[in-house]
Amino acid sequence: MTDPRRIVLDCDPGHDDALALMLAAGDPRIDLVGVTTVAGNQTVEKTTRNACAVATVAGLFAVPIVRGADRPLLRPLRTAAEIHGESGLDGPPPVVPTVRTRPGHACDFLIEAVTASPGEVTIVATGPLTNVALALMKEPALAEAAREIVIMGGAYGRGNVTPAAEFNISVDPEAAAVVFDAPWRVTMMGLDVTHQAACSEEAQARISAIGTPLGVFAGQLLEFFRSTYRREQAMGDPPVHDPCAVAYVADPTLFETRAAHVVIETRGTYTSGMTVTAFVASGEGSRHDVGISVRRDALFDALTAAIAALG
Ligand code: BDR
Ligand code: CA
Repeated sequence: MTDPRRIVLDCDPGHDDALALMLAAGDPRIDLVGVTTVAGNQTVEKTTRNACAVATVAGLFAVPIVRGADRPLLRPLRTAAEIHGESGLDGPPPVVPTVRTRPGHACDFLIEAVTASPGEVTIVATGPLTNVALALMKEPALAEAAREIVIMGGAYGRGNVTPAAEFNISVDPEAAAVVFDAPWRVTMMGLDVTHQAACSEEAQARISAIGTPLGVFAGQLLEFFRSTYRREQAMGDPPVHDPCAVAYVADPTLFETRAAHVVIETRGTYTSGMTVTAFVASGEGSRHDVGISVRRDALFDALTAAIAALG
């Protein structure tokens, strides 16, 4: 096996972020260097507490968790309590985290982790892109030093918070514009692909049946996520968006991607946060790749195996 891919997971847990964290920690093809948190699905106090709670249940006592931005670059924060609940991680009985955060700001952790090993560390971002944009603005060399960045966010088709925009990009479009305009390779796992990663009741039952405290916890998260996706988005099975970004790093062959040029709409009255995507013939020097399709069963196999491996 080749060396595991080193990643920093920048996230806003959030149910699917929690599953992404489990995948990143439990998949042998990934070396989770650290976790940074951002305001998005809930306030940064809550998303950080939730990251620590997931790390506690998963037994991740050595992975640094560093808190980041409490609001978007220019706009007031809009959360997603209707999907993730008041805590940001409703469903399972509340966990009292014993894992603590490390001091400092997420953007400094990102800069240090990436620039210490040029060309080696990948950023996987599954929340609004505020921390990553702050890091790029503070240290533009981040773009050259990172191996790549893979995000869950956007869509070349329809959005989910508005017809035009997906939640993560819509919360902080200015940050997304900084990230997509920087001179690095951005892979966008948007709704076009993550909506294919719907968790069937059978896939959920397999995760619960692992029977460990983490497996049971993950099943309870999926049950709550299923109920809110049914109510709010009229989707029978909830899409596990964020694990797609981690899974792409672990095994890109699970996905079909296409080269593209993506720009972020920051000003449109009705289209703010839209990821305006022009597909280009590969080899035209584009810096963006966009997810098109996923092998769903293989994705859930990897997620289930990772949760089982964490014991
Ligand atoms: C994205 O928004 C959040 O609610 C999820 O965690 C995911 O990152 C999907 O639009
Ligand atoms: Ca998220």
